[in-house]
Amino acid sequence: MSLLPTTSIAAIATYAGTQVTLAGWVANRTEKGRLIFVRLRDGSGVIQCVVFKTAVTPETFACAQQLTLESAVRVTGQVRADARAPGGYELDVQQIELVHAASEYPITPKEHGVEFLMAHRHLWLRSSKQHALLRLRAEVIAAAQEWLNAQGFVRFDTPILTPVAAEGTSNLFATEYFDLGQAYLAQTGQLYVEAGMMSFGKVYSFGPTFRAEKSKTRRHLTEFWMIEPEVAFATHDDNLVLQESFVSAIVQRCLQRCADELRVLERDIAPLERCVPPFPRISYDDAIALVAERHGDVAGCSPLAWGDDLGAPHETLIAAQFDRPVFVERFPTAAKAFYMQPDPDRPEVALCADLLAPEGYGEIIGGSQRIHDAGLLEQRIIEHGLRVDDYQWYLDLRRYGSVPHSGFGMGIERCTAWIAGTQHIRETIAFPRMLYRMYP
Ligand code: 4AD
Ligand code: MG
Repeated sequence: MSLLPTTSIAAIATYAGTQVTLAGWVANRTEKGRLIFVRLRDGSGVIQCVVFKTAVTPETFACAQQLTLESAVRVTGQVRADARAPGGYELDVQQIELVHAASEYPITPKEHGVEFLMAHRHLWLRSSKQHALLRLRAEVIAAAQEWLNAQGFVRFDTPILTPVAAEGTSNLFATEYFDLGQAYLAQTGQLYVEAGMMSFGKVYSFGPTFRAEKSKTRRHLTEFWMIEPEVAFATHDDNLVLQESFVSAIVQRCLQRCADELRVLERDIAPLERCVPPFPRISYDDAIALVAERHGDVAGCSPLAWGDDLGAPHETLIAAQFDRPVFVERFPTAAKAFYMQPDPDRPEVALCADLLAPEGYGEIIGGSQRIHDAGLLEQRIIEHGLRVDDYQWYLDLRRYGSVPHSGFGMGIERCTAWIAGTQHIRETIAFPRMLYRMYP
């Protein structure tokens, strides 16, 4: 015996005029005399099921009358096309099988505060907006991986328990590792992906990354997912071309395949439709000049000295000058990670770029050309106060067939938040980990 439904709600159109059994949860129930309307969701979609008193047994009608929110049911009925119905179809119910009667569901249509909803995240995931956000996230991930696979990249999984820092030492999560001392949760897969690049040419890692961010912002999680392509023989300029093709392919695929989700999210899709290459580029120097001139345009945007990093208000100001994502390139070498290649013509800046999303969503990608000279890399490791011995394997990559190479990392949550038009990235991951939240 099977409990599986005949079809999913998403595929209901192929069953018009026939009898089906659907299986799902009660999203809403209203009663109008001899009619009961049950909004059924099955994960793939939502359909209105109409229970007409004279069309069912008294038991079935009584069952429909008692259905509580989020009860699990199997509903059998006739699929009827109805132009006025949201999905174009309704189900004329013949029979209802109660699988589980839910107790009083804590999330009601009334307004709840975000703290309450976050504490009930395990249930909130069922709500239509959350469902749409996480469906969009899944599409972003699928689009990113499939695009890279089609371009000849090989997925290369990197370790999460690592012996050393890669993106600064101030935000490391540490844990005891048996007799070997401290291990750190990976801040990035990059260092390892560079080893993979020397074996496969074009690789990417995709997995969770960790940063003990002690700030409470809309854009920071302590655990987030990153996709990190790395390409042998690619220069800084090649890297930017790859990024703009990659990001626009993801956005265009989401527009195609997630139209329903974007509608639920009430996303204005015009800015997304404009997201096609080439993306504008602005140097860090020009960005600083722009900030000096226009900082009054954005609240909290203060002037910067050369060498300072850009804050969220500065990114918003810069992005507002363009109609699509913008690269800010050649940041001061001193402000960036040890592995970034200094510009040979101007070593005080690095061959790196951040990609800023439009509409104030901030940095979605960080990337750079990597130092390929062993001596220079060793010098930079020392300058950053790191122990050369810990990085011998990484230096080896520069001792045996070293080539100029470049790569980048895109945060899945930041990218999803931008495409979805959601200000806070905490809703773009199923169970966000933040400074003040680890439950559920
Ligand atoms: O700019 P980041 O720190 O770059 C790296 O980690 C490089 N190793 C990537 C590479 O070149 N392979 O981080 C890259 C991206 C950011 O642009 C952002 O999208 C995301 O990762 N990110 C975060 N997302 C959520 N919460 C945080 N705390 C994040 N920190 C970075
Ligand atoms: Mg960055």
